[in-house]
Amino acid sequence: MAILKTDTEVIQQIFEHIDQGTTDRGDETWQEPTINYTSEDRFNEEIELLRHLPIVFAPSVALKDKGCYIARTVAGVPIIVVRDKDDGLKAFRNACRHRGMALAEGQGKISVFRCGYHGWAYGLDGALQHVPHDSGFPDLDFSCNGLVRLHSVSETDGLIYICIDEPIDQGALAEMPQVLPDGYEVFDTGEYEQAFNWKLNIEATLEGYHIKPTHEKTFYPYGYDNLNVVETFGANSRVTFPFRRIESLRDVPESDRDISGKVTYVYNVFPNCTVAILSNHVSVSISEPISPSVTHYHTFRLGKLDGNETEEDIERMQRDARFVSDTGLEEDNAVVAKIQHGLKSGANSHFNYGQFEKAIVHLSLTCVLFAEHSPSDD
Ligand code: FES
Ligand SMILES: [Fe+2]
Repeated sequence: MAILKTDTEVIQQIFEHIDQGTTDRGDETWQEPTINYTSEDRFNEEIELLRHLPIVFAPSVALKDKGCYIARTVAGVPIIVVRDKDDGLKAFRNACRHRGMALAEGQGKISVFRCGYHGWAYGLDGALQHVPHDSGFPDLDFSCNGLVRLHSVSETDGLIYICIDEPIDQGALAEMPQVLPDGYEVFDTGEYEQAFNWKLNIEATLEGYHIKPTHEKTFYPYGYDNLNVVETFGANSRVTFPFRRIESLRDVPESDRDISGKVTYVYNVFPNCTVAILSNHVSVSISEPISPSVTHYHTFRLGKLDGNETEEDIERMQRDARFVSDTGLEEDNAVVAKIQHGLKSGANSHFNYGQFEKAIVHLSLTCVLFAEHSPSDD
């Protein structure tokens, strides 16, 4: 059986919802204890979980050429992922084997990782290649002092997944169709930080129940309130947000209907990656939890480029894409920041998720499932 509905099936389901004034519903409602958004213990358990599952690090095209690397913190661990000489990937803990200095920051392209402190140098495969004045280290075994690798790094359908420590499960990868379209390139990257729990913003992307009240002047005039197709697969989910212009497909024969530009597909790649397929670009956003109430975001925007774009073309694409993604995002972030602040009121021992919020319930239930065989319980 197919993991997800076809575009044709999604369009049909949306028409039925429009005609009947309905939306997809889950079987269950859910009460999430609010302590899960503030507790240090819970936060530490979630970090442990992120270290023991394959999770999305970046789109593959963000590390296209040999020597391209991205260095950042994942689940609290500073790491480097680099495209090696054989076009494979290597993932290391970002610490020199001499006295622990970070070897790289941000993103770039290199042929050797040279430590900025005393100059120890490592190849793209992590092997220790050079130690200045090595006569001072008569017992140093180069073969045991390469960069320390993560448990694994892999690429599946255009996404790079890393697993920092021994996995407890295949996580997102147990059931993961291709979500990134082929032939897309990165034309913009960004990062920013917000003062709220990492799960709150992901939840805001997983339901359309808030479209009219939150996005009354931005999304609602072009979309629908509380009208979504919601699918779950393995640990992951997809929520489809239709635009009103989907009506133009009513008179098109089913086999000729093209869904592009008529819906936004939003995927939760379990647990902390959001992939949004928008009309003119694709956004990949990864949440890096910093504390129970602070989250750092890494975003990649991808589009169809033919390689002949001028700097002005790219700048225009960036401006357009930022306008499309950021307008709604700013409204969501403003709401979510108020929720995080509101947790201090002590009013709620739990939040109530309804049947329209099926994908959030799925995310919460999956977290509970994994928590039961959490590495911290071993
Ligand atoms: S800490 Fe890297 S060479 Fe000394
Ligand atoms: Fe929203």
